[in-house]
Amino acid sequence: MRPRPARIERLPEQYFVALLGRVSAAAAQAGPPLIDLGRGNPELGPPPHVIEALRTAAGYPSAHGYSPIRGLPRTKEAIAGRYRDLYGVDVDPATEVALIPGTKTGLVELALSLCDDGDTLVLPDPYYPDYPSGAALAGARIATIPLRPDAGWAPDLDAAPDGAALYLNYPSNPCAVCAPDGVFDAAVRWARRTGSAVVHDAAYVDVVFDGRPPQSFLATPGAKDVGVELWSMSKTYGMAGWRIGFVVGNAEIVERINLLNDHSRVGIFAPLQAAAVAALEGPQDSVAERVATYQRRRDLLAAALPEPPVCEGTFFVWIQLPQGLSAERLLAEERLAVAPGEGFGPSGAGWARLSVAVSDEVVEIAAERLQRAFAAVAA
Ligand SMILES: Cc1ncc(COP(=O)(O)O)c(C=O)c1O
Repeated sequence: MRPRPARIERLPEQYFVALLGRVSAAAAQAGPPLIDLGRGNPELGPPPHVIEALRTAAGYPSAHGYSPIRGLPRTKEAIAGRYRDLYGVDVDPATEVALIPGTKTGLVELALSLCDDGDTLVLPDPYYPDYPSGAALAGARIATIPLRPDAGWAPDLDAAPDGAALYLNYPSNPCAVCAPDGVFDAAVRWARRTGSAVVHDAAYVDVVFDGRPPQSFLATPGAKDVGVELWSMSKTYGMAGWRIGFVVGNAEIVERINLLNDHSRVGIFAPLQAAAVAALEGPQDSVAERVATYQRRRDLLAAALPEPPVCEGTFFVWIQLPQGLSAERLLAEERLAVAPGEGFGPSGAGWARLSVAVSDEVVEIAAERLQRAFAAVAA
């Protein structure tokens, strides 16, 4: 076998694959049951009418051939309807929406569509650990904008370096904050100054707490001229395993995704699209229930900590670990798995991300173990 192509060699260690490996090895050791808050894997599935729509559509004889390569117009109309009705944004379903098999795929494809060899992808740090992967495949380097908790994790985009693209993510994984005032406007200014593109990863857009409204980047004046938003079915509807999402916004960027799609994929199983339409257009009470559930669990965890963490959305709580406590120690001594902060970029060192996408019972046990671990290092 010849050596691996450079683009494969450039891929960084996949943070979550490595984390899952460490957690399974720890779980296999003797001791009390391991509690895993490391991975964010929604445990609440979609509402019954969505599963029923999948079942019905899979029963049609016509469902099993190749579906249209660029997606069914009906599916794109459904997401355009959501943008209009919920986020106050008009998008043309024909030219401003691309259908993708989950936004993780979109993150890589956008890097390939926006960055040439030697270009720079700009990332506020901490960032979602999958962002560097697309840059590696594209041959782009990463420039980070370090964020600080005392500044509300807000990036100073007017001082940000040039680059071919900027990835933003609100509500933020891992920082769990919503877009600070003015950040989206500053992102449009950055794009105009550099002639580059903004990608807003809106994976958790609807998972916002304490009455905050969902906020789309595309509602910002000028946003569609310079960027796109990634919209995922995974978190809003608990459909993470279904692998379906959208790239919405700037028509040229959408066309680049569609072009990649023409060459590398053949549509998305039509019954999945029918179910996505049912989710987007059917009753929405499950979304509010899901948000209330995550908010309640956030409060359970917060009550166990010496100071309540800032957590405005997502199903993660991002905490600073006290001196003497580390993710490794929590795993070894408390059998509590969390996602170590350093995997989210240099500014994540000393922090940890805890998922509440687990049952209430698991959150309660985790809260007890966390409280004990904090008390042990404070003593
Ligand atoms: C910030 C962020 N973006 C994107 C994704 C990918 O979501 P999906 O591929 O399920 O749409 C995730 C998944 O956890 C995420 O946390």
